[in-house]
Amino acid sequence: MSSLHWFTNIVFVVVVFCSTSLASPLHGSSQVVLEEETTVVGYGYVVRSVAVDSNEKLLTANLDLIKPSSVYAPDVKSLSLHASLETSERLRIRITDFSQQRWEIPENVIPRAGNHSPRRFVTEEVDGGNSPDSNFLTDPSSDLVFTLHNTTPFGFSVTRRSSGDILFDTSPDQSDPSTYFIFKDQFLQLSSALPENRSNLYGLGEQTKRSFRLIPGDTMTMWNADIGSENPDVNLYGSHPFYMDVRGSNGHDEAGTTHGVLLLNSNGMDVKYEGHRITYSVIGGVIDLYVFAGPSPEMVMNQYTELIGRPAPMPYWSFGFHQCRYGYKNVSDLESVVDGYAKARIPLEVMWTDIDYMDGYKDFTLDPVNFPEDKMKSFVDTLHKSGQKYVLILDPGIGVNRSYGTYNRGMEADVFIKRDGEPYLGEVWPGKVYFPDFLNPAAATFWSNEIKIFQDILPLDGLWIDMNELSNFITSPLTPGSSLDDPPYKINNFGDNAPINNKTVPATAIHFGNVSEYNAHNLYGLLEAKATHQAIVDVMGKRPFVLSRSTFVSSGKYTAHWTGDNAAKWEDLAYSIPGILNFGLFGIPMVGADICGFSHDTTEELCRRWIQLGAFYPFARDHSSLNTARQELYLWESVASSARKVLGLRMRLLPHLYTLMYEAHVSGIPIVRPLFFSFPQDTNTYEIDSQFLIGKSIMVSPALEQGKLTVDAYFPAGNWFDLFNYSFAVGGASGKHVRLDTPADHVNVHVREGSIVAMQGEAMTTRDARKTPYELLVVASRLENISGELFLDDGEKIQMGEGGGNRDWTLVKFRCYVTGKSVVLRSEVVNPEYASRMKWSIGKVTFVGFENVESVKTYEVRTGERLRSPRISLIKTVMDDDDPR
Ligand code: GLC
Repeated sequence: MSSLHWFTNIVFVVVVFCSTSLASPLHGSSQVVLEEETTVVGYGYVVRSVAVDSNEKLLTANLDLIKPSSVYAPDVKSLSLHASLETSERLRIRITDFSQQRWEIPENVIPRAGNHSPRRFVTEEVDGGNSPDSNFLTDPSSDLVFTLHNTTPFGFSVTRRSSGDILFDTSPDQSDPSTYFIFKDQFLQLSSALPENRSNLYGLGEQTKRSFRLIPGDTMTMWNADIGSENPDVNLYGSHPFYMDVRGSNGHDEAGTTHGVLLLNSNGMDVKYEGHRITYSVIGGVIDLYVFAGPSPEMVMNQYTELIGRPAPMPYWSFGFHQCRYGYKNVSDLESVVDGYAKARIPLEVMWTDIDYMDGYKDFTLDPVNFPEDKMKSFVDTLHKSGQKYVLILDPGIGVNRSYGTYNRGMEADVFIKRDGEPYLGEVWPGKVYFPDFLNPAAATFWSNEIKIFQDILPLDGLWIDMNELSNFITSPLTPGSSLDDPPYKINNFGDNAPINNKTVPATAIHFGNVSEYNAHNLYGLLEAKATHQAIVDVMGKRPFVLSRSTFVSSGKYTAHWTGDNAAKWEDLAYSIPGILNFGLFGIPMVGADICGFSHDTTEELCRRWIQLGAFYPFARDHSSLNTARQELYLWESVASSARKVLGLRMRLLPHLYTLMYEAHVSGIPIVRPLFFSFPQDTNTYEIDSQFLIGKSIMVSPALEQGKLTVDAYFPAGNWFDLFNYSFAVGGASGKHVRLDTPADHVNVHVREGSIVAMQGEAMTTRDARKTPYELLVVASRLENISGELFLDDGEKIQMGEGGGNRDWTLVKFRCYVTGKSVVLRSEVVNPEYASRMKWSIGKVTFVGFENVESVKTYEVRTGERLRSPRISLIKTVMDDDDPR
């Protein structure tokens, strides 16, 4: 920012002119007219005219530049601003060039509900109800108020009506140019003040972070890059300019009042968080800012994913355990791994193969020597017979090779990204490659067709799409004089302001519709995931499982994600928790990190601790790099026995995990959550990033340090029970810091009072686990409702739950209460016809913590029938009696 200092303290005189006639409000005619004197400092825009349309809940304003700057090229002279209450919980503020269309993420890439026409001009003057100093957009249905400050320069703010809390405030600090609102062709700057002592920010990635809560001084750069996730604090594979602000109390709002903010812009940017301020420095596009009212973290997720798209449902099997490695040598190697798991009695659901299976690293080919077609077919067939699945990797780069069918068909369909009129030549695993341009609808057709041809040879269950940032092994020379290849403002790419063309497709490359890579770069992974998801729907006719490395806003609609190339190091084990929690906030709840670590040789102890944590990632996959030590879980007896224990619990929890998938799909609430989701008023939870919740009330407190046999955990208020043996662990009216034992073979997992958790029996695959009777764990609470849910369907239908006339699913809602000396368990069933068709039954109900109860009654609400004779187990654990809540 130092290069902006030149305009500090410049004093000039200007006046705001409110035009009375805006019949031809074009760029050239919108000059600033000096009328009366106002003294201002610095650079900025003033409000020329405003209109408020209360019916449409829309405020429109025109802004004029009052003083140009000489940095980063000329300023846009006139801007149009639209603020709209798109829903009662969502405010959108869009600022763009008044006279020219600029790049914006196309509607067909991320559809935006309630999109107001960018070309809508002001037709009337300041709305009568507003004061001359500011104009408001407010509606009785909404807690969000937008205020346009008619100051010089202008600013805007968003406040909470109920409490007056200022959520976003761009009023510039006149002494600090880095706070000014700037709008140039290749440089936009938007800065908001934050209440430093009350704001707690989460999100803004993808970056590897030691701390889940953002730390003042953090700069988050968004420019998708193939940088190993073992490197903290630099831009990685995906871009998500979204944050959640969980606030401490201000006297009106209670602690935990939360809102969300998204800057929907695909261009490269730096987002600098300084505690008292957040500043976006963006190299293109428009300001398209959304504020989500909350006021709880769960509601923010609901509101955010309502806009960007709900997370894709994942097939039931994808919640099983996955094994992968870069460097499996041949089919016998794969077979011996599957065999190793079976012999060790460790559940293995999905076997994966990395680029090793390909012929010369070409997509949709098989290495004829090590992975020949006949052996591969019979390998996959055997997997399927034993209820297991198979997933393969695909990279976007298509090898340039005239004897390669995929290449020829791609050339024929003319689907590759171009530069200077020719397909752009990059270099990845196969050598020289062209990249399909997924902005081109023909590329999705091409891709789907290639998947179909390959699927006819080998019946796959899911696809892994990698290197889609795009990753390129070369950096092509710049186009001389191009400000796209070399923009004036350098984002902090690779952590050292590296050129944006570094090891990717150059910014001057061109996509379908004449869109530059400069604008579309961050969308590649999203577009490839969307095309791959659709291809699986078309080719396999089943619910897709796609795993993508690169992501953008709304990728969760199509794909799961893993945190990329971590290292087999203790710090990476710890980083995985903030990484996974972040993707929950980004609307991509199916996420995991490479268990036991990707690069470097793992160790027995690290791998053991990693599976103890990784068994509770939503997506649980062991993966390692070429030439590292092997790390399949059966290789060490201590790791194997831990794996049996924790994956055994995971298998029992599958119905619960899958129900949480349903909840994520319908409401955006992540499967795995930070503690503050369930305990927003407990400010001690805000800094916790070494523990997490599965759903509302199962808490994992893993061991993250070498050689340590205790773990320091925080337990929010309430009674907590050990999920392995149901013993009472910790309780009380307020949160407690507790040192827990964590012997070598143990991970601490606790369940909180008031929960009803649906479980099933252990098995080697999800297919077999699904055949076991259900078990309910009912945990007593003296003060809170005791409830839980279970979602059931076939696990692979494209639609999950409601929608498209789908009736093949059910949701069972359980409630429990105590009357006298009896405990009563009731269930209520949505779509009861399906529930009867499924013939599911509860084999066992375990009641934990009911002290003075002597009998149990269970029945279904609708029919009044008793649940079919489950075995009842009543564990009358005595809880702490110091809980006067
Ligand atoms: C990338 C991926 C990694 C994979 C490797 C080889 O580094 O992130 O998971 O194993 O490429 O395909």
